[in-house]
Amino acid sequence: MDFKLTEEQELIKQAARDFAQNELLQGVIERDEQQKFPKEEVRKMGELGFLGMMVDPKYGGSGLDTLSYVLVMEELSKVDASSSVIVSVNNSLVCWGLETYGTEEQKEKYLHKLATGEIIGAFCLSEPEAGSDATSQKTTAIDKGDHYLLNGTKNWITNGGTAGVYLVIAQTDKDKKHRGINALIVEKGMEGFEIGPKENKLGIRGSDTHSLLFNDVKVPKENRIGEDGFGFKFAMKTLAGGRIGIAAQALGIAAGAYELALKYSQERKAFGTEISNHQAIAFKLADMHTQIQAARLLVYQAAKEKDNGANYDLSGAMAKLYASQVAMETTVEAVQIHGGNGFVKDYHVERLMRDAKITQIYEGTSEIQKIVISRSILK
Ligand code: CAA
Repeated sequence: MDFKLTEEQELIKQAARDFAQNELLQGVIERDEQQKFPKEEVRKMGELGFLGMMVDPKYGGSGLDTLSYVLVMEELSKVDASSSVIVSVNNSLVCWGLETYGTEEQKEKYLHKLATGEIIGAFCLSEPEAGSDATSQKTTAIDKGDHYLLNGTKNWITNGGTAGVYLVIAQTDKDKKHRGINALIVEKGMEGFEIGPKENKLGIRGSDTHSLLFNDVKVPKENRIGEDGFGFKFAMKTLAGGRIGIAAQALGIAAGAYELALKYSQERKAFGTEISNHQAIAFKLADMHTQIQAARLLVYQAAKEKDNGANYDLSGAMAKLYASQVAMETTVEAVQIHGGNGFVKDYHVERLMRDAKITQIYEGTSEIQKIVISRSILK
């Protein structure tokens, strides 16, 4: 597989790098400490076309490929994973899901606003008792003729408080199990839809994570995505692509921590020389560099397979499993290389270490990725 970037992809990568360095870096520590949503930064990312990267320009998107999207995700995540998860959910889960499976009316009504960043979207699958076990949905969407009556609670929803549009997965016919599940488009402000408390998180603290409560919310039938009972497949298909975005986020977190550790090791002196001259540090850098490049190749491979129209369930799960593991290991080592400074917020690596952990949990834990991978190789 040829991973040489085109001139356009190089330019997009550079644009994302410039934006991350010039706009996201300043204020990132404060947003993390205060759990402050990057409102102005999201607005600017909308202007740059980062919120609807793969969406057809006729719906306001940038019409780019998945590889360009992962390049942007990597660069943003090097600096601010709270901002990049907003980009990832909006692109991979919400815009892609709507563009691929929505009706023309749904696209006209919602996609343009989502792709341009006029509003952002949220993807609502997880529940208090259904995170990994996604078929066990307790939220119900009862068919009432011209509408569904939605009741239940969703948990840990990224963009939960700030989104304008929510794609909600709910059970319509329990007897049909996963074939009785539907995906519904819910708008903020619909009667009976309440936003629950904001989560106080270990990492990605600038992103807005809430539980959501649905109490007899009337969702018009035309807001269902796909045929009756398509909701679970919709969620699985959408998450398969989402995992490529999160893999790119993990890659970016790892690469960001590595870049900081490399620079620090060439400046900081101990025992009469820069610490990079000590093999104990140089070998850590060698391991980090190798692991990051291996993760990058897996992420690019998954993106390319998606762009080529091949099945990317396996490559996406492998990329997410490995890149998230590399993110965790690399950020721990980056803190170690920084010594006491690594434990201090000003040096950024402690935040990257905290942010890394979520990449092993959301859009399917590492254990879920291993289920997907092992099923694929054993079938
Ligand atoms: N594409 C299409 N269809 C798929 C699919 C895929 N990738 N994976 C499964 N399916 C289909 C199967 O074909 C099957 O359909 P049929 O019976 O009609 O053939 C159906 O879905 C059920 O499949 P399984 O029996 O394999 O289902 P399972 O209960 O064993 O679950 C699982 C499989 C992989 C564990 C799945 O439940 C899963 O992915 N769980 C994790 C969910 C997850 O990622 N949650 C994260 C929440 S979202 C989030 O984090 C967003 C955020 O805010 C950042």
